[in-house]
Amino acid sequence: MNSEKPLFGVFTGTFIRPPWTLLLMLFGLLAILTLQIFSTDAVFSVRWITGLPGADDGSSGPRDVLGDERSCVGFFGAVPRRKVVMSIADFGGVGDGRTSNTESFRRAVRCMQGFGDKGGSQLNVPKGRWLTGSFNLTSNFTLFLEEGAVILGSQDPKEWPIIAPLPSYGRGRERLGGRHISLVHGDGLTNVVITGANGTIDGQGKMWWDLWWNKTLEHTRGHLIELLNSNNVLISNLTLLNSPFWTIHPVYCSNVVIKGMTILAPLNAPNTDGIDPDSSNNVCIEDCYIESGDDLVAVKSGWDQYGIAIARPSANIIVRRVSGTTPTCSGVGIGSEMSGGISNVTVEDLHVWDSAAGVRIKSDKGRGGYIVNVSFSNIILERVKIPIRFSRGSNDHPDEGWDPKAVPKVKGIFISNMVSLNSTKAPVLEGIEDASFEDICLTNVTLLGISQSTAWKCEFVSGFASEVFPVPCAQLQHKGSSS
Ligand SMILES: *[C@@H]1O[C@H](CO)[C@@H](O)[C@H](O)[C@H]1NC(C)=O
Ligand SMILES: *[C@@H]1O[C@H](CO)[C@@H](O)[C@H](O)[C@H]1NC(C)=O
Ligand SMILES: *[C@@H]1O[C@H](CO)[C@@H](O)[C@H](O)[C@H]1NC(C)=O
Ligand SMILES: *[C@@H]1O[C@H](CO)[C@@H](O)[C@H](O)[C@H]1NC(C)=O
Ligand SMILES: *[C@@H]1O[C@H](CO)[C@@H](O)[C@H](O)[C@H]1NC(C)=O
Ligand SMILES: *[C@@H]1O[C@H](CO)[C@@H](O)[C@H](O)[C@H]1NC(C)=O
Ligand SMILES: *[C@@H]1O[C@H](CO)[C@@H](O)[C@H](O)[C@H]1NC(C)=O
Ligand SMILES: *[C@@H]1O[C@H](CO)[C@@H](O)[C@H](O)[C@H]1NC(C)=O
Ligand SMILES: *[C@@H]1O[C@H](CO)[C@@H](O)[C@H](O)[C@H]1NC(C)=O
Repeated sequence: MNSEKPLFGVFTGTFIRPPWTLLLMLFGLLAILTLQIFSTDAVFSVRWITGLPGADDGSSGPRDVLGDERSCVGFFGAVPRRKVVMSIADFGGVGDGRTSNTESFRRAVRCMQGFGDKGGSQLNVPKGRWLTGSFNLTSNFTLFLEEGAVILGSQDPKEWPIIAPLPSYGRGRERLGGRHISLVHGDGLTNVVITGANGTIDGQGKMWWDLWWNKTLEHTRGHLIELLNSNNVLISNLTLLNSPFWTIHPVYCSNVVIKGMTILAPLNAPNTDGIDPDSSNNVCIEDCYIESGDDLVAVKSGWDQYGIAIARPSANIIVRRVSGTTPTCSGVGIGSEMSGGISNVTVEDLHVWDSAAGVRIKSDKGRGGYIVNVSFSNIILERVKIPIRFSRGSNDHPDEGWDPKAVPKVKGIFISNMVSLNSTKAPVLEGIEDASFEDICLTNVTLLGISQSTAWKCEFVSGFASEVFPVPCAQLQHKGSSS
């Protein structure tokens, strides 16, 4: 790790930019080659060439004009300065990788809680390896991991105590009843920051994945970081490793910024989603690199009859400049738990490679709820098997109490400026019987590598397509210009 470099250089300077330009060149070349091979669609070729960089394209959105100036800034102000700053070492912590610091962290937070209404507090974690069980955060509080600081998750399941299931799930996601608490946890907080100089939180999740694999898991696994019912949350500039389960889980939260994170888990580690905003609004996720065994980002809002009853939607979600890989799952998924409704999601500048799907909508009978106004733009996919996938679940319900008549409403999904290189399968757009997905609009979408003989798989969907290659299914009527 080179700590001399500005932290974001890797994301905004050297990481995403060159691959974009390089890819566009490569892509232009491929497009031309493809067109020469399949030169029957002359209209397409003319449109496509005018769509290459350099063309006057007022319609392509603000990416080129504003560039990296678009940011989460409006969602969370400046990183607040706290009146009281202490170190975990002040609370008897020992960073030797062996001594348990569970009591030190809990004592530190109890102490710092007292400064919540006196200017706030910051707990520093210095360089070292700090083994700990689960601990809670407090309000007006910053957890700061200095360079070289590593928080290690305890290998004793009892150090991840059982807490109540989320009301919008009615049970643990994996097992009935309660669920293990997250390593870093908070409930009912305001103004919380989890940040640092790229320090690390390592959940040491292998123990949990083994329990999952060998089917001896008794309670649903804990997340690495979970915040419930909290407002004004910033999680930034850290590396998160080996979460037992979903890595960052804000649920029933508002005004959340997650920025400049590196999230890594082995590519086969089960359900190690990167970031899962759940029944939360005003969430901005930006400049993150994620490599894991499940979706990089999945937007959710509760499960079947429980999610419907609680009715807490996820709304106003931005996912921007996220890149990474997940071989069996998708770049950005919406659902499958979406019973409280999901609306107004903007995903832009997404770069995904070597993955099963690029963008994915997942729902099913029994879910109820809605998914409306979701837009994906400026998407680059490389070696992603299915670039666009809308699919039903596989009979995945919390219990027998689910209502087969509760179908989701899916309307207004916009996909534009997508390039997929070396995909193998045509898009799959499968809506739900008696609940067709409407207003599915694709513009300027170019999917290369798919053999001409594989048709799009569309069922119970309707919408529009313009400047889409290869030719989409008939359910997406061609339209001269998009609106
Ligand atoms: C991340 O770290 C950089 C470099 O130290 C700093 O300039 C920036 O303010 C930090 N951003 C956030 C959101 O914490
Ligand atoms: C943070 O650390 C991780 C793991 O060492 C590294 O991959 C990443 O590039 C670092 N991020 C920054 C911004 O330096
Ligand atoms: C947090 O700080 C704000 C502003 O100083 C204060 O109004 C609020 O009461 C504090 N919250 C808690 C829980 O201490
Ligand atoms: C942390 O908060 C949860 C509720 O969100 C509570 O059940 C648990 O006892 C708290 N843990 C500690 C150590 O205070
Ligand atoms: C399952 O995995 C756990 C954690 O590694 C281990 O303790 C346990 O012995 C394993 N059980 C079986 C039946 O393999
Ligand atoms: C949709 O979300 C964006 C950004 O999150 C926000 O600026 C806009 O106001 C939202 N629209 C509505 C109708 O809430
Ligand atoms: C729909 O989403 C777009 C951006 O994706 C946003 O600007 C607009 O406000 C949203 N409309 C509603 C009604 O939420
Ligand atoms: C079409 O998409 C490509 C790649 O995302 C982009 O470079 C180009 O500007 C877009 N064209 C138009 C007309 O928006
Ligand atoms: C796509 O596949 C071709 C042929 O196998 C290969 O030459 C090219 O490098 C691949 N491109 C990407 C972006 O994977």
